[in-house]
Amino acid sequence: MPASQRFDFLVIGSGIAGLFYALRVAEAGQVAIVTKKAATDSATDWAQGGIAAVVAPEDSFEDHVRDTLNAGAGLCREDVVRAVVERGPHMIEALRKHGVEFDRSVDPMQNVEFDLGREGGHTKRRVLHHRDATGHEIERSLLAQVRAHPRIRMFENCCAVDLITSHRAGRNEPDRALGAYVLENASGRVRRFLAPITMLATGGAGKVYLYTSNPDVASGDGMAMAYRAGASLSNMEFMQFHPTCLFHPEAKSFLISEALRGEGAILRTQEGFAFMSLHHEMADLAPRDVVARAIDTELKRSGADYVLLDITHRDPAYIRNRFPTIFQRCIAFGIDITREAIPVVPAMHYSCGGVRTNLEGETDLPNLFVAGEAACTGLHGANRLASNSLLEGLVFADAAATESIRRFGSIEDCGEVPGWDEGDATDSHEAVIITQNWDEIRRFMWNYVGIVRSDRRLERAHHRIELLKGEINDYYWNFRLTPDLIELRNLATVAELVIDSARSRKESRGLHYNLDHPERDDEHFRCNTLLQRGERARPEPT
Ligand code: SIN
Repeated sequence: MPASQRFDFLVIGSGIAGLFYALRVAEAGQVAIVTKKAATDSATDWAQGGIAAVVAPEDSFEDHVRDTLNAGAGLCREDVVRAVVERGPHMIEALRKHGVEFDRSVDPMQNVEFDLGREGGHTKRRVLHHRDATGHEIERSLLAQVRAHPRIRMFENCCAVDLITSHRAGRNEPDRALGAYVLENASGRVRRFLAPITMLATGGAGKVYLYTSNPDVASGDGMAMAYRAGASLSNMEFMQFHPTCLFHPEAKSFLISEALRGEGAILRTQEGFAFMSLHHEMADLAPRDVVARAIDTELKRSGADYVLLDITHRDPAYIRNRFPTIFQRCIAFGIDITREAIPVVPAMHYSCGGVRTNLEGETDLPNLFVAGEAACTGLHGANRLASNSLLEGLVFADAAATESIRRFGSIEDCGEVPGWDEGDATDSHEAVIITQNWDEIRRFMWNYVGIVRSDRRLERAHHRIELLKGEINDYYWNFRLTPDLIELRNLATVAELVIDSARSRKESRGLHYNLDHPERDDEHFRCNTLLQRGERARPEPT
């Protein structure tokens, strides 16, 4: 691969947002997609539940807006919520045109074209799905189109290291994005990918926690790169824990979709007690933060390792047909979900915070766009409503593509940019240092910055990350880059941002629950948390 390549649009990441954006901007120019493993290694490919959109006659935009605002606990931007919800039906059509198949309704009494699932926090059935493998179906269809497109080049096993900006390139001009330094994994060389417009669609940061439903690629790379490049981030304290991941020593946090509860599954203690009605009027279909906290309380109260999710009262043939992925995976671990309840625990699932964008998906670093889980658009507020994220990724990828195409012809060329400076870095023969740091971060994040936090736990986490940051930086500049080292550095940055944000929010709201400040404080904290390079996290007055 040449040391430097030029494209019209650079996309980093290959999930729903990156692929959809690439297909749209390819109408206007040459596109590179850079992705650190195989293109299908994305959270999109793992998404089970589906995509929320108003398509049923008994549903309405108002209802979807209200459910989203309720889940978001006072921090959603209502203009963003409306814009996303109202684009829902259009985005479903766009996906269908790209070949995505959604399950159709088989019930003649249900006056709708599609079979609609229900999940926590939704007052109506509105989740379009492809059995229990919706994300895989979307990834499959979009990727087939991308691979066949003459103007899109896919660079797999290429790990973005840092964004290139005009300030970083040493220019005395207003700062703007110019592309990225990218490690070609096979050769170990860092290449320049230059483009007047860059889209970060790098997904979330689940790997910052010990237990997560996310794929291994979710190390918060886009958030960390954008932060280092000077873009603002918001609301990193709002990390969403999915209530139900399979509890099994070899399962590596396999997700058990909330759609099971939408179809009647009940959470029980190991003694069989259905405990959710003690915690919320919507019982098993309460918003996700409530369910995850209720399970956490139950586990701490009883000392048990897991609770049970029971769908055995539904017809076995229905279960096997509606949830084939979950059925098969559980059978592989010796659990027949048609006959026995599933052992489950919460695990980190989704970052509601991220790189702040406007309605066009642009950050405050000009020509840098972000979409999908890496972004904080204002849709989710303090807690994301289930199945709103694939929709958000599409709507913002689409809006960003429209704005990118409009602007593209008038942006000045990227000019000359210095190559990556390796300094005196040598090869490291001590991979153990990386794994040790990695394990340490994930464990203290789980124990101290998890579902339930306290001032003391957050202080401890703060001290530990300060210490580790020094060690990791030292290692980073002395040894040649590897994908593991790049991820570790990003993971440490994201952990620091989460801890810093959580320390600055002295209340409990949505996904942030602090034992020392158990009440919601609208007077002081009904606002976003702002994170800017070189400054402490702070509440941003509205
Ligand atoms: C699930 O299937 O439970 C996950 C859906 C989501 O996170 O939106």
